[in-house]
Amino acid sequence: MIDPKGRRLLRGPSSAQETSPIPPAAVRPSVLARTKAGLPVDSAKAPVIPIPSYLSEHYWWAYIHPRAIRFFDRPRIIDFILWGNYTRLRTAALAEMGDSLPGNSLQVACAYGDLTPQLCRRVAAGGGRLDVIDIVPIQLRNVRRKLPSDAPVRLLNMDSADLDLPDAAYDRAIVYLLFHEQPEDHRRRTLAEIFRVVKPGGKVVIVDYAKPRWWNPWRYWFRPVLATLEPFALDLWANALTTWMPAPWSDQQWPRESYFGGLYQKIVVTR
Ligand SMILES: C[S@@+](CC[C@H](N)C(=O)[O-])C[C@H]1O[C@@H](n2cnc3c(N)ncnc32)[C@H](O)[C@@H]1O
Repeated sequence: MIDPKGRRLLRGPSSAQETSPIPPAAVRPSVLARTKAGLPVDSAKAPVIPIPSYLSEHYWWAYIHPRAIRFFDRPRIIDFILWGNYTRLRTAALAEMGDSLPGNSLQVACAYGDLTPQLCRRVAAGGGRLDVIDIVPIQLRNVRRKLPSDAPVRLLNMDSADLDLPDAAYDRAIVYLLFHEQPEDHRRRTLAEIFRVVKPGGKVVIVDYAKPRWWNPWRYWFRPVLATLEPFALDLWANALTTWMPAPWSDQQWPRESYFGGLYQKIVVTR
């Protein structure tokens, strides 16, 4: 079953609809039947939201190819891709979110590793609920596999630039290493959507690439590598993340921390 926009919901392990503080109108009627493992039984037949061309052209090998998950979703590989910074970045992002997360939390796009299971633990400790959205169904299924069966999590197949979620529904959102993969227009629309769905006063935690400092060798040799493999990433070297935020958030300076000689940044915006 699909909604009028052709989008579908991969139901999370718990009965989120029954317990959700998000108004029922927000939950599309496209709940798929599930196997015991929580996977949609008719996923092969169900229409999928179109994958944006930037993802199918430049990142098919990382997220869409059937063998991508098996290859990349291993601690050593993701740590290598992040030059040994995986734990540091994930820990910084989680610390910013908090130890106990009541209310509604949103993770915009899946990530390899254990970011979602760790978030889930904090959400469960706070009696809250977590929604994870991603455009690639196999990524959502991969996350599902890592969560306990009673996790208060919904896995939603959506485009970050077109969230089928109500206004001001979330207390906080986390976006972990997504923006460098998106072309400008998609990045801008994703940020507009995030600021729409997070409540006034809520927190938006972003971890992503940035321009390394002048003394960091990565600034010189890594540039052509990024330009080849991740063609939109250099936007984040050239501009602050506020560039793509809607006003008034674009006009302000937000708390920002740098990691690994500036190659990575964490920015925390209050909605
Ligand atoms: C958030 S990034 C994380 C990358 C990082 N290397 C990691 O895994 O730690 C990758 C995820 O973003 C998802 N993604 C990319 N574009 C998206 C979009 N427009 N909407 C929703 N999810 C998207 C991909 O399907 C993939 O699962």
